[in-house]
Amino acid sequence: MSRKGFHWNEELTVGLINKCLFPAAGYGTRFLPATKAMPKEMLPLVTKPLIQYGVEEALAAGITGMAIVTGRGKRAIEDHFDISADLEAILEQRGDIEHLRAVRAVADMVHLVTIRQKEQLGLGHAVLMAQDAVGHEPFAVMLPDDLIFGTTPALAELMGAYVATQASVVGVMRVAPTETHRYGIVDPDTTLPTSDEGRTIPLRGVVEKPDAAHAPSDLAVVGRYILGPKIFERLEQTPHGLNGEIQLTDAIHTLAQEQPVVARHFSGTRYDVGSPEGWLRANLHVALDHLPVFC
Ligand code: G1P
Repeated sequence: MSRKGFHWNEELTVGLINKCLFPAAGYGTRFLPATKAMPKEMLPLVTKPLIQYGVEEALAAGITGMAIVTGRGKRAIEDHFDISADLEAILEQRGDIEHLRAVRAVADMVHLVTIRQKEQLGLGHAVLMAQDAVGHEPFAVMLPDDLIFGTTPALAELMGAYVATQASVVGVMRVAPTETHRYGIVDPDTTLPTSDEGRTIPLRGVVEKPDAAHAPSDLAVVGRYILGPKIFERLEQTPHGLNGEIQLTDAIHTLAQEQPVVARHFSGTRYDVGSPEGWLRANLHVALDHLPVFC
């Protein structure tokens, strides 16, 4: 596969974390009607679907096992990472080697496990559904709506913090006070030292989508997590929270009361590709980076 854009020695992290979980059961309402019959994770960024960027980031961070939590109408995600013998035969017949290679590379990329989330009860519920697939070991979570472009894969930066602290890790970025109500906002534990030049920050907890007046900091959780298996016990006990959903944030907050949890301020640029505006911006980013003809 192409690791263009990433300068990271993934051998450093191979085997540390074995599974990356992709919650992908949502309806993609912000993209309707485009997502009426098609999973939002399959929307293209130039020529690759969104989910492929996430899978490539996890691979580049040394993770080889991908588990996708899906729902009704998400078959196209599985098909994308499967072998398409008919298509390959046609491309071969036509001598279209470039596209044949691209199509084969995706099929060879990963072995996917899919887990069905029958009810949409929130991000925490989606993660809980994957408990059996993950087993009793630390694992990564990646939200496919949050694309992060940078020279080091964001998940690899979280991995670095995990290795150094042995704590659960959440990826964070700074947001304006007017934006806190869109994110989980972390509560830094200022009695403990930060590390990595202030980029790894011990936490007291996390609050889901507070308004500016109640936000404990300006550091917002963006869809990258490394979590210890204890999170599953916390999720089982987490009551329905904001919007009646089982919030991953609430379970991480409880976890932080009993185990170290740190935030890692990642260095890349994040795009919210679950919104049409963020998706357009991300398309421009990729196009300007890889297709000089667009400049
Ligand atoms: C989810 C999480 C939130 C996090 C955000 C990042 O919210 O609940 O804590 O900050 O992802 O994208 P959602 O965007 O699914 O409402």
